[in-house]
Amino acid sequence: MSFTQEIQKRRTFAIIAHPDAGKTTLTEKLLLFGGAIQTAGAVKSNKIDVATKSDWMEIEKQRGISVATSVMGFEYKDIKINLLDTPGHQDFAEDTYRTLTAVDSVIMVIDCVKGVEIQTEKLMEVCRMRNTPVICFINKLDREGRDPYDLLDEVEEKLNIQVRPLSWPIGMGKSFKGVYNLYEKKLNLFTPSQRKLSDEREEFEDLTDERLDSILGNSYADQLREDVELIEGVYPDFDTKDYLEGKVAPVFFGSAVNNFGVNEMLDTFIRIAPAPKSRLTESREVTPEEKNFSGFIFKIHANMDPNHRNRIAFLRICSGRFERNKPYNHVRGPKPLRFSNVTSFMAQDKEIIDEAFPGDIVGLYDTGNLKIGDTITDGEEMTFKGIPSFSPEIFREVINKDAMKTKQMEKGLKQLMEEGVAQLFTFDMGSRRVVGTVGQLQFEVIQFRLKNEYNATVEFAPMNLYKACWIQSKDKKQLDEFVRSKNRHIARDKDGKLVFMAETKSWLQMVQDNYPEIEFHFTSEF
Ligand code: G4P
Repeated sequence: MSFTQEIQKRRTFAIIAHPDAGKTTLTEKLLLFGGAIQTAGAVKSNKIDVATKSDWMEIEKQRGISVATSVMGFEYKDIKINLLDTPGHQDFAEDTYRTLTAVDSVIMVIDCVKGVEIQTEKLMEVCRMRNTPVICFINKLDREGRDPYDLLDEVEEKLNIQVRPLSWPIGMGKSFKGVYNLYEKKLNLFTPSQRKLSDEREEFEDLTDERLDSILGNSYADQLREDVELIEGVYPDFDTKDYLEGKVAPVFFGSAVNNFGVNEMLDTFIRIAPAPKSRLTESREVTPEEKNFSGFIFKIHANMDPNHRNRIAFLRICSGRFERNKPYNHVRGPKPLRFSNVTSFMAQDKEIIDEAFPGDIVGLYDTGNLKIGDTITDGEEMTFKGIPSFSPEIFREVINKDAMKTKQMEKGLKQLMEEGVAQLFTFDMGSRRVVGTVGQLQFEVIQFRLKNEYNATVEFAPMNLYKACWIQSKDKKQLDEFVRSKNRHIARDKDGKLVFMAETKSWLQMVQDNYPEIEFHFTSEF
């Protein structure tokens, strides 16, 4: 197979959803279709139960599960699909945001009873930053859910994206009959079953066909005719180009647990979802077809064994062919790196591989050289953009409780931050260190891992902060003046970038009004 064919056959994506919408269930069904697993129940939910969320074993278990299912590769109809898992618990949202930088498209699962939920909105904002194409799967149609028109309106409104239904539900809950595929003009009747692998479909070129009445009954048949007429009248024809540009999300209805509508969506997915796309570096655009290898690290996972500090770094290949044992340029680092232990993630087994192609994700064993956001190339000095840090939502000051172990604490903190567990900000005044996270859970994780893996003891003191804003200005003098006058609130992020630590929303607004020349950003990349 030629290099170009290898690229064209790859689809790298993630499933995003508010917890409980059905991400794990859908993942499992996709793996069943791909032959990557044989039985239902093989994919473990990576959720942490709220009731057990401060149970350490549970967190450790979660880390174990999420390594095993971080990337799931499988083949379906000659397409190589790389499905990237995202953590179920919202306290790990930052991890999800970063994973989204490594995919070319997403499937978004929405619960038809609950509609668009908060976590979905946040994830969609991240997708919009890169115009990531989105396919929407409205799940749990076997339950009495909301009116499908209302759901579509809500998606458009809350997620700020146009929708185009490609299938339409007939009934819902107890009276759910199935879906009509508007694109293929086929009727797919619902039979609850967890094992069924293919949907049998009846073709209906013309919905006035009386067969429809005999299959669905008069009232459902008439309702469907009415709905289809309305949809075709209201929504413009589906345009793949608009989808690829992130402007329109095609919508499917189904029931993941009953394996209904999943096959239809997957067939459409492999037809329309983008093959690996070009990516921007700070200096130029890199196309996947370029001969020279390049890629970036978007996730680092510490080894479970505290006696060995080995970590697995997840590399997204952006261009060229990646080869085992070849020396590569680690753009940020002092020396070239050579990787002898390179794993792919086909099915649920990790296996050592010799080469990989654009769109692929490989795991690199690392002894502490790599950090999130690092670029690796054949030699070119460039850095991929689009792996930003987002402003945390909870901030606490780190208090070292054991002065004898300061060195260990420093090292541990540095390594945990490189793994992306949380963000560290150091205030210019007094060198106070502040850890910022999106959830409470990370503080417990950090405290526990510092003790367990580095033998350091820390506590966290609450801090009243609203947001960390990365600041810049075209006017250097103004920026210097701002930093001087607000020096009690100025800190540096892990890369030494200037950050303004705002205490409240209203105060931030006031400062922004008073300093119009200063730009305030909620992400580290702008
Ligand atoms: P998540 O990964 O997005 O958090 O969701 P997950 O797949 O774990 O699904 C959450 C719950 O919703 C599960 O029930 C799952 O069985 C159920 N579910 C998924 N798809 C459908 C569907 O199409 N219809 C219905 N009615 N339910 C669905 P649970 O009770 O939490 O767990 P379980 O014991 O059933 O596995």
